Amino acid sequence: MRAITLSSLQGFKETKEKFTCIAAYDAAFAQIISDAGVECILVGDSLGMVLQGHDSTLPVTIDQMVYHTNCVKRANPRSIIMADMPFMTYGTLSDTLNNASKLMQAGGQVVKLEGGSWLSDTIKQLSRCGIPSCIHMGLTPQSVNKFGGYKVQGRQLDHAKQMSEDALRVQDAGADILLLECVPTPLAQAITQSLDIPVIGIGAGAVTDAQVLVLYDMLGITSKAPKFAKNFLLECDDIPSALAAYVAEVKSGQFPTAEHSFKK
Ligand code: KIV
Repeated sequence: MRAITLSSLQGFKETKEKFTCIAAYDAAFAQIISDAGVECILVGDSLGMVLQGHDSTLPVTIDQMVYHTNCVKRANPRSIIMADMPFMTYGTLSDTLNNASKLMQAGGQVVKLEGGSWLSDTIKQLSRCGIPSCIHMGLTPQSVNKFGGYKVQGRQLDHAKQMSEDALRVQDAGADILLLECVPTPLAQAITQSLDIPVIGIGAGAVTDAQVLVLYDMLGITSKAPKFAKNFLLECDDIPSALAAYVAEVKSGQFPTAEHSFKK
């Protein structure tokens, strides 16, 4: 099977075929995930909570992200690898370029940054340097202290309007992918329809172009599963089958259901 590239993801957007992403952090799982047909592996800074046991993603460092991106890269046969820029590693243009280049050299093919239209110059500069970007909006976990907790974002009309405008601005600046976390389904739908670039959702309903889940959540290896996660291992005999079921359910539109989404 051919390797997945940004053009493949753009092709999925155009043909309206849903695609999948899994957040994972090591070689053994990268191989299984990729073999199961998952198009994108996100080396997420969620590893700070999932692997390291912190109560937020803030303690994760660029060196840790480089290490895990490299682990995934070594074993991944086919998926496109997206790597998170951790907290405060993209506050200035020079920090952004310095840190993004480390992730790319470790095997990342897209870097993910949390924010909105304030990232426009950063996105332009990354793009000029040949570094694709994914902008993470909605519930951006690095801003948990500003939000006062892990809460659904974009419920108020003015906030929803701002998010929709920000989505268009980051696309205009050259972002290649948008990721929406924990936003009401109608807002996710409006944003997805307004953009030409692919939109990946988590807790954003079945209306986005793609879905992402944290591997450990979709295998039930968690003490508190978020509302938007489903344990696919419950109905399957092994991990490869659970991943294949995830891919099949996303592609057919069976997952996520209203139970995994926020109506408003
Ligand atoms: O870090 C991560 O795994 C993420 C996903 C939950 C979207 O950002």
